[in-house]
Amino acid sequence: MSINKIIARQAAYYSQDAGEWANSAYASEYPEITALLNLNLPKHNRYAVCNLRGGIGKSTLTFNLTYDTNDIIAVDTCPQSNSTAFFTRGQPASGTTIYDALLPYLLPRMSFPSRIAQKIERLNPYFSGKNAYFVPSSANLYEFPSIMESALSQARSIPGESDKARSQILNSFKDLLDRETRKYNISKVIIDTSPFFSGATHLSWHAVDSLIVPVRTDQQSVDSLQLLIHLLRDPSRTFLRAQESLELSQPKIQMVVVTHCGWSTRAGARNEPNNQTKVYLEKVHSLVANNIDLFTTDDPDNHVVPLDDFLGSGRIASANQIPIKCLEPQQSFTIEGQRVEVNASVEKCQKQLSFITSNIW
Ligand SMILES: Nc1ncnc2c1ncn2[C@@H]1O[C@H](COP(=O)(O)OP(=O)(O)OP(=O)(O)O)[C@@H](O)[C@H]1O
Ligand SMILES: [Mg+2]
Repeated sequence: MSINKIIARQAAYYSQDAGEWANSAYASEYPEITALLNLNLPKHNRYAVCNLRGGIGKSTLTFNLTYDTNDIIAVDTCPQSNSTAFFTRGQPASGTTIYDALLPYLLPRMSFPSRIAQKIERLNPYFSGKNAYFVPSSANLYEFPSIMESALSQARSIPGESDKARSQILNSFKDLLDRETRKYNISKVIIDTSPFFSGATHLSWHAVDSLIVPVRTDQQSVDSLQLLIHLLRDPSRTFLRAQESLELSQPKIQMVVVTHCGWSTRAGARNEPNNQTKVYLEKVHSLVANNIDLFTTDDPDNHVVPLDDFLGSGRIASANQIPIKCLEPQQSFTIEGQRVEVNASVEKCQKQLSFITSNIW
């Protein structure tokens, strides 16, 4: 089992435009650059960006993939509201939050809000002209898991109607997305999730076709990928246990995006990962290979995609809520009194983001 193909693909991003592939170090093993770059993944409409660990790049990736896609609704289900702040440029969210929209499904006397998704360009001018919407999050989501738990236990006690009531709750997010996508005639949805499973993350798994799982190059992130795999597979764990006899849809994993990757700076080493990146790409690849039945194809090489450390560009992008695609090398910004420059490698990150986008939609 090797990560050669995944590394060769990185080199191919560069040579693709310059037409240099024939001279590259990888061309003898992979002469057909087009075949190398084509993952042939099935395309879906609805994704949740999910891993059960904080600070690994879920919100950053959600924001950037939303920017890269037209005709899309992004939903922030994390109570920390980081992707909401990206969309609102740091302003407090107004209007209906995802908490307000989901609550009536759990508390039947509440009425359903009529307006939910908001056009992003009204709040973040980098989205001007894009048909992109978002649903903000709310700190109230910290309470959501316990509300959902008591709604499910009440549903279980309804004589003769228990299955119907439970499936209405577990399918609530799916139903909400069906309504919103119909209203705006949009099919693509991306959901940013919290690092915890209970509550909105749980509901998002029944609402999407597939997961995009960011994993940072550290052991804790790999452990959380392992935990996520257990949740998808083990009938004694929350996700499958809560369904019991119900037939609800379950997501597969489309892609594991290995974030914060770094590449060797040794003279002559072109497109070779540094040691840490290599170790974690190998660990992730091996986990994917051992659980390939949970993925959308049967080839592990298709499902591990590196995303580099954004370096200064990442600081600039998050401080100013700018999509990575809108930055240009050498532009400079002042952040907290410090001048920070967009690094040249931002162009590689932009290509990596395009590659991810073109392999999900
Ligand atoms: N590819 C990247 N390169 C460099 N920095 C990154 C990258 N992706 C994210 N970051 C930075 O890492 C930090 C965490 O990112 P982000 O908020 O997207 O993670 P998260 O998984 O959504 O965290 P949480 O679970 O707490 O919501 C942020 O400071 C962000 O700017
Ligand atoms: Mg986040």
